[in-house]
Amino acid sequence: MNSVQLLRRLCLAALLPFTALAADSPREHLLLDAGWKFHLGDDWPNALRLDKAGESGGPAAEKFNDNSWRTLDLPHDWAIELPFDKNSDTSHGFKPVGPGYTKNSIGWYRRTFELPKEDAGKRIWLTFDGVFRDATVWVNGWLVQRHEGGYYPFRQDISDIVRFGGKNLVTVKVDASKFEGWFYEGAGIYRHVWLDKTAPVAIAPDGVFVRSSFSNNIPEGDVTISTETHLINRGTPIWSLETWYQVFDPTGKRVAGGSLSRHWIKDPLLETEYTVNYSEPRTMTIPSPELWSPENPKLYKLITTVLVSNNIVDQKETTFGIRTVAFDKDKGFLLNGKPYELYGTCNHQDMAGVGAALPDALQEFRVKKLKEFGCNAYRTSHNPPTPELLDACDRLGMIVMDESRLLGSDSENLKKWEDQIRRDRNHPSVGLWSVANEEFFVQSSPQGGNVARTMQNLVKSLDPTRPVTYAAPQGDTFDGVNGVIEVRGWNYHIGQEMDKYHAKHPDQPNVGTEQASTVSTRGIYANDKERGYVSAYDVNAPSWATTTEKWWSYFADRPWLSGGFVWTGFDYRGEPTPYAWPCVNSHFGVLDVCGFPKDNFYYYQSWWTTNMVLHLLPHWNWAGKEGQEIRVDALSNCEEVELFLNGDSLGKQAMKRNSKLSWKVKYAPGTLSAKGYNAGKLVTEAKVETTGNAAAVQLAPNRATINADGEDVSVITVSVADAQGRIVPTADNKINFSLEGAGKILGVGNGDPSSHEPDTFIAQPPVKALPVNNWRWKLAAVPAKGALIAEYGNEIDDSTWNTIKPKTDGDTGDMVLKEGQTAVFRAHVSVTEADLANPGVQIRFACIDDHGWIFVNNHRVGESADWSAQPVFDIKKALHPGDNIIAVGVRNDSGEGGLNPDVNVELVGKSVANGWTRSVFNGLAQVIVQSSKEAGEIKLTATADGLQPATVSLRTQAVTLRPSVP
Ligand code: GAL
Repeated sequence: MNSVQLLRRLCLAALLPFTALAADSPREHLLLDAGWKFHLGDDWPNALRLDKAGESGGPAAEKFNDNSWRTLDLPHDWAIELPFDKNSDTSHGFKPVGPGYTKNSIGWYRRTFELPKEDAGKRIWLTFDGVFRDATVWVNGWLVQRHEGGYYPFRQDISDIVRFGGKNLVTVKVDASKFEGWFYEGAGIYRHVWLDKTAPVAIAPDGVFVRSSFSNNIPEGDVTISTETHLINRGTPIWSLETWYQVFDPTGKRVAGGSLSRHWIKDPLLETEYTVNYSEPRTMTIPSPELWSPENPKLYKLITTVLVSNNIVDQKETTFGIRTVAFDKDKGFLLNGKPYELYGTCNHQDMAGVGAALPDALQEFRVKKLKEFGCNAYRTSHNPPTPELLDACDRLGMIVMDESRLLGSDSENLKKWEDQIRRDRNHPSVGLWSVANEEFFVQSSPQGGNVARTMQNLVKSLDPTRPVTYAAPQGDTFDGVNGVIEVRGWNYHIGQEMDKYHAKHPDQPNVGTEQASTVSTRGIYANDKERGYVSAYDVNAPSWATTTEKWWSYFADRPWLSGGFVWTGFDYRGEPTPYAWPCVNSHFGVLDVCGFPKDNFYYYQSWWTTNMVLHLLPHWNWAGKEGQEIRVDALSNCEEVELFLNGDSLGKQAMKRNSKLSWKVKYAPGTLSAKGYNAGKLVTEAKVETTGNAAAVQLAPNRATINADGEDVSVITVSVADAQGRIVPTADNKINFSLEGAGKILGVGNGDPSSHEPDTFIAQPPVKALPVNNWRWKLAAVPAKGALIAEYGNEIDDSTWNTIKPKTDGDTGDMVLKEGQTAVFRAHVSVTEADLANPGVQIRFACIDDHGWIFVNNHRVGESADWSAQPVFDIKKALHPGDNIIAVGVRNDSGEGGLNPDVNVELVGKSVANGWTRSVFNGLAQVIVQSSKEAGEIKLTATADGLQPATVSLRTQAVTLRPSVP
């Protein structure tokens, strides 16, 4: 292109109404979360057929009948729905799933969708953001993908398999029978599923990389924006291709743009296969950009448009931020060129009420909760995060340490690591990559070092902008991983070892990848092994860990340490250290599993924020301890704090930075209060009062208006208060919940690490099975198209036909037919009028081998063409009170065949949502309410014996729904 042409194109780029063009792009990014069918159980072990293509069995077959399966929306975690089991794995929260629990560890999901005829020729992609765990995916009976692992995204181009102008079926078998971690991991499709449609020439999935750079990595003057676009083409001979770039600032103003064009004339690749696969770099400049930081998370947008022969074939929006990150050996972490202390927390994706399946709004809720105590950094321990967590961190301001699941340089692990980096590298929140956590067995070996170097080199080749670390459990050792990794990560080892290591390796920057592991229970002030509680006074930590004050004061004194990440921000299921059963969740959190603050929250808030903080602990309800000494702590950043009991001063103390104050106080009911002073002036006050008895339930939503999109949630705090509205800190009342209106309860929790109350109350219809016994059969000609014959009719006397012995070993039953034979099987079943009054009456067969036509009282009710399916048919209309005849014509195509006499008529009752209930723990519980797609009102009512009830109203407002598969 000559300079005149280039100029023309650049001018055009400036003029084109780019926002209007989005509609012209064939790209569609559709959520595929709603309306899945689900079944728990390993009932079709032979569904996966490897002998022939497109012909899988069981639920993978299109003809399989999933009528009786439960309907649900993703994200979904079935482990949370299981009862606790004392014999199951301690570190996974005593849920009977995983090794040894085959029955509960295989789940099946099915979803049908239509593709219009007009989509023919487009490329169709199916993307899973994360499935726990090993997934087998079929589309229309074709095996399309087997993906091992529970945390990495995976996708498949299914264009070759799908039907345009017709129905399509996705079947997913999820196998959670192995663990990956040593913490609760959930089970199921617990992250989003997407269906993407693009033109044959398109931007590849995760095919845009945009980054900003300043000279010397210090944000002064103009910023250079570099973009790289990965394009793919299968099957279109293209002659000219253009890519347009538009950058919009945080206010939506276009601030930069440019284009690139290419012409293919005689590309040998194109001529033979029409395949283009290349990356295209482009740079632009923006003067005086607005920088991204946790305090000021300003986001820019890049719109990439692809044109072939002047027609738009693709357009993609990418959010990014302009900022620099680096680690300095002496000054620690640098954000935008300045030292920036990392006030971090490590977290698992796990929350009360929902387990691992967090709706996007809960990611936002959790990031905001962390920010309340000054947390500005989030480690995605020990696995790649859900993309929506990174979106929340971009938007709300949180620096992310983005961690891989495992150390490994085998091709599969490197491919997963590459996918993670390509997916996450545009997020401004991501500030640091972590190749792994605590690889005890290999960390100090030369091989460990080699593998870490390979993973680090891969980062550098895909993302030269961010540093790399490793969360190291072994202290003063430079062998293996520590010697090759860019930033030395410290898991624990506070004290001598860190200082010694730093003296020996002064050129390596350092960060506290995992610290604290302080254990405490919200609202508990003495260890109680029997009930599984640990004191909240910041006095307990396992042998490898430290108290809150100890780790933080050590780090705060050493600028070279860059700050660090507390283990953990939130409690999570599993790892009930220092206890085991009855304790089912961890005590490491600054917040409990609901997000209610423990006392340590105020320690961090004192030293990690500039808020004025003064918090007293414990609560002041100690009836029976009158006259006994009680330890009282003040967590505060005031220079001095004076404590009072019922108005009498108990003394003023000076606060040392990064510490706290303590008094011994003889208990008397009333008011414990404190005054905080700076430079001798009273600046703040706090009090804790002895409350009266529990009198009323209170409900407080975090958001009173939510979106009517079937996804948004409001998190409602339930508290039990005395007659004056003060939360009773020892209350444990059982509260019942009922909901009316445009939404549903998603889950409940209370933060009690030893609670065995359910988090969910799934509305399951009661099913009563009436066995169909005494089957008779005889060889007969069976019409292939299912036409009626006399042998199906009620008039036939079948008393002289052959009988089948029912099998008792749970196997395929008495298979009486030889290859090529056809026969009719008959049995009687008696039902009453009351039976027929049930909302559903269906018949379930264990096996019809190979082809069957099913009749009830001479009415054809269905057909089964798959021996491995366990077909179910709706027969309510064909039955009458009294005796009924079931007849099945069977054709056996190969091997042994026939009808397994294990057949049941199932009476499916009305599904009554079990009463939702949860006890408050130390005065508090939580209900997560989710909207439906109807705009309106949701009313949640809470009642409890002897307490005044409460009702809260939420508004659900109409919004534009995000594009999704109908
Ligand atoms: C660490 C480990 C974490 C967690 C923690 C508990 O060693 O990396 O996953 O187990 O200990 O203190």
